[in-house]
Amino acid sequence: EFYKKPAKVDFQQDGPFGTWDLAQVQRGYQVYKEVCAACHSLKFVAFRDLAKIGYTEAEVRALAAEWQVPGIDPNTGEDILRPGLPTDNFPDVYPNDVAAAAANNNAIPPDLSLMAKARGDGTNYIHSLLAGYGPIPEELTAKYPDFETSTGLYFNEYFPNLNIAMAPPLTATDQVTYTDGTPATVPQMSQDVAAFLAWTAEPSLVERKQTGWPILGFLLFATILAYLSKQQIWAAVK
Ligand code: HEM
Repeated sequence: EFYKKPAKVDFQQDGPFGTWDLAQVQRGYQVYKEVCAACHSLKFVAFRDLAKIGYTEAEVRALAAEWQVPGIDPNTGEDILRPGLPTDNFPDVYPNDVAAAAANNNAIPPDLSLMAKARGDGTNYIHSLLAGYGPIPEELTAKYPDFETSTGLYFNEYFPNLNIAMAPPLTATDQVTYTDGTPATVPQMSQDVAAFLAWTAEPSLVERKQTGWPILGFLLFATILAYLSKQQIWAAVK
């Protein structure tokens, strides 16, 4: 009863005519890279996919090279880290789940590639979750005096069990310096990263919506044609 449903945000990709706000999706990438990537992987996304959010081929190559991915030294055969190439996927953050849990108070930061689909109303949820940390409401402690948020957990009324092992990742205005000059308030950053994660979860969302319209047009046309031929065929019968 103290758990809150995500607040509705008007994302440009929402609705039957939705299109990506590419500037927003790119800002969201920046938030992911500078903040979330410290703990969360994005393993189903390849750097070359970033071309679809408006980066040129040269930009994609440069963005990929900013990441370190596992590779093999061609001379010694040893495992090394090398700069990413467009064909690489985003790298794992931790070597395995035990290491991930050990670094995060026993909770494993989930991969974010499909998070916007994995949770109900996922895009709104991601925004609300990130912007939704706050003090425990007095009504809650009045009703459940035993409720507590123990050390290493954080109260968040958008997280289904109310205590989350993720420390508030977005805490200060201008935590990220946007290259497009947008003021980086906490709600701005959380909406931008939610839009980016909506894109990673369904990169072809806009194409899917746009395919629907010609199909509806064709079906309407076919219906009219069928009606007219029926009139024609039965014209002689009274
Ligand atoms: C969980 C998003 C940054 C550690 C989550 C969840 C989301 C999320 C959507 C899943 C909640 C659920 O299961 O419903 C993000 C975003 C970030 C970010 C968008 C950047 C803005 C971080 C950082 C850390 C972190 C920097 C580590 C310092 C965790 C952990 C969990 C988690 C440990 C699991 C929490 C639990 O199950 O109690 N995050 N996160 N996250 N995140 Fe993050």
